[in-house]
Amino acid sequence: MGEFHVMDHPLIQHKLSIIRDKNCGTREFREVVNEIASLMVFEVARDMPLKDVEVETPEGTAHAKKLAGKKVAVVPILRAGIGMVDGVLDLIPTAKVGHIGMYRDEKTFQPHEYFLKLPSDIGERQIFVVDPMLATGGSAIMALDALKKHGANPKNIKFVCLVAAPEGVKAVQKAEPDVDIYAAALDDHLDHGYIVPGLGDAGDRLFGTK
Ligand code: PRP
Ligand code: URA
Repeated sequence: MGEFHVMDHPLIQHKLSIIRDKNCGTREFREVVNEIASLMVFEVARDMPLKDVEVETPEGTAHAKKLAGKKVAVVPILRAGIGMVDGVLDLIPTAKVGHIGMYRDEKTFQPHEYFLKLPSDIGERQIFVVDPMLATGGSAIMALDALKKHGANPKNIKFVCLVAAPEGVKAVQKAEPDVDIYAAALDDHLDHGYIVPGLGDAGDRLFGTK
């Protein structure tokens, strides 16, 4: 079964409280979502492999380290996942970006895919799938399926979200046992498809739509 990690770093927890507040406006919400995404990826990237290198400094030779593993792709689930991309790219500027468009039916909460564009070498990459909300898990599971169909290796995929519901974590772990999930918080439950207490509709809050 894939591992589930709640990232309890104080800065992540502090910033999450800012965006949970219903009075947090669009501009601040957008900024802080990206800041949390950066902090989370900083932690998620902790197991990236390194190689030994020699670097000529102005004073001599340093025996140093550089990243040695797979190149990275960040894949946001549209729309709300877009809000996390810049935060990831701030830390990993060379990452390629794939997009998977997904919306939930308002009544059934079933996800529908409407767009997909991935780097052609997705099968060779370490993939960070980003979406602020993991609710029923339907969108995440459909996005992970789409990635696999296009050659991604589930062992190379990490799912990074801000708020997760227990139902969604369970569903993704069952459907995709090779994918580890990282969240800033595990909330209480779902109510009519929405995470409680959650932070509301992440896409609407990021883009100022309603
Ligand atoms: C939200 C969110 C996730 C999905 C989570 O997207 O960003 O993609 O719901 O719910 P689930 O786990 O039950 O599938 P939404 O469908 O509202 O689209 P949006 O990002 O365009 O607002
Ligand atoms: N999508 C959201 O944006 N918020 C929720 O609480 C659930 C799904």
